[in-house]
Amino acid sequence: MITEGDRFAGLREQGEAGGMAEQRPADARPQPSAVAPRPLLLRILDVPVHWAWLDPLAGPVRDLVHRVEPRWLADLLHGSPIGHPLHPILAQVVVGSWTSSALVDALTLTGLVPDDLEEGAEAASTTLAATGLAAALPTIASGWTDWSDLHEDQQRLGLVHAAGNYAATAMVALSLVQRWRGRRTSGRLWSMAALTTATAGAALGGHLAYRWAAGASHAEHVPHVAPEGWYAVGAWDDLEVDSPAKAQLGDVPVVVVRTHTGVTVLADSCSHLAAPLSGGRVVRERGEDCLVCPWHGSTFRLADGSVAHGPATAPQPVLASRVEPDGTVLARVVELPGVAASPGLDSRAG
Ligand code: FES
Repeated sequence: MITEGDRFAGLREQGEAGGMAEQRPADARPQPSAVAPRPLLLRILDVPVHWAWLDPLAGPVRDLVHRVEPRWLADLLHGSPIGHPLHPILAQVVVGSWTSSALVDALTLTGLVPDDLEEGAEAASTTLAATGLAAALPTIASGWTDWSDLHEDQQRLGLVHAAGNYAATAMVALSLVQRWRGRRTSGRLWSMAALTTATAGAALGGHLAYRWAAGASHAEHVPHVAPEGWYAVGAWDDLEVDSPAKAQLGDVPVVVVRTHTGVTVLADSCSHLAAPLSGGRVVRERGEDCLVCPWHGSTFRLADGSVAHGPATAPQPVLASRVEPDGTVLARVVELPGVAASPGLDSRAG
């Protein structure tokens, strides 16, 4: 049996015989795999990610969302036509309105609003709370639409985020009922409880978006990390028409698509959740050649990488490409204004 010590003794001998001993770091010993300690807040926010007992609930809800929503509505609620997730925009209206309402209520309850302005403050607070409640309906719809195309761990977090926001919505509704019944103090207290709950729900939503990258583009990095210059990514004769092929541009995976009209090279990592688009299929959508993602069906126009259908909202980076006389397909990253390709990063660092 070969022990860890034997293996390292062997490596030492090989290194010394091959003249590598001088290059080996003094502490080049195997390190046990380790999990970096995480701040308490992060550990708390991550708790729902481990709640596998939520999965039996997630499956039917996901299927229901997919079944009841026509595709045009799903695209709209994802935000694909505007190129930006719709949910956080709508959520701003909800949380902003409820924050303002609760702030006015807090000022009133603490006596900071003069008596002659109290009626006006009450009307303003009620209007703000009702505005947020009205905006909550499309916000909830867009949230479920985005949620239905997430990974399992993201969905667990999303379910708890939704539960918190439902509780906040119910509290705002209760606050309005209490005000309508003339119980203003109770209505104001419910308003502040709603804001506290909505803040916790929003924290989970932010965690889902930033730490778990739901809603972020997973192809944005390509112009930053791809090397500049032309690279061979295939041979024209080897490419089958309408059959996406995977290739590399330096360290960056790309997908090469030959169609009846030419060849297109795109970043392989889907902008939605990083699925390899080379596993997708080519379709004609309103007369345009498009590439469909194998995971959630985002559909990108080959002409410019724009989104024909979500859940993606960010376009797929398209590379410049050309075919040499000998049939070699070349590709080059298209730099965004002010964004240098990889070698430029070195010069910036220097
Ligand atoms: S990874 Fe979800 S549509 Fe591509």
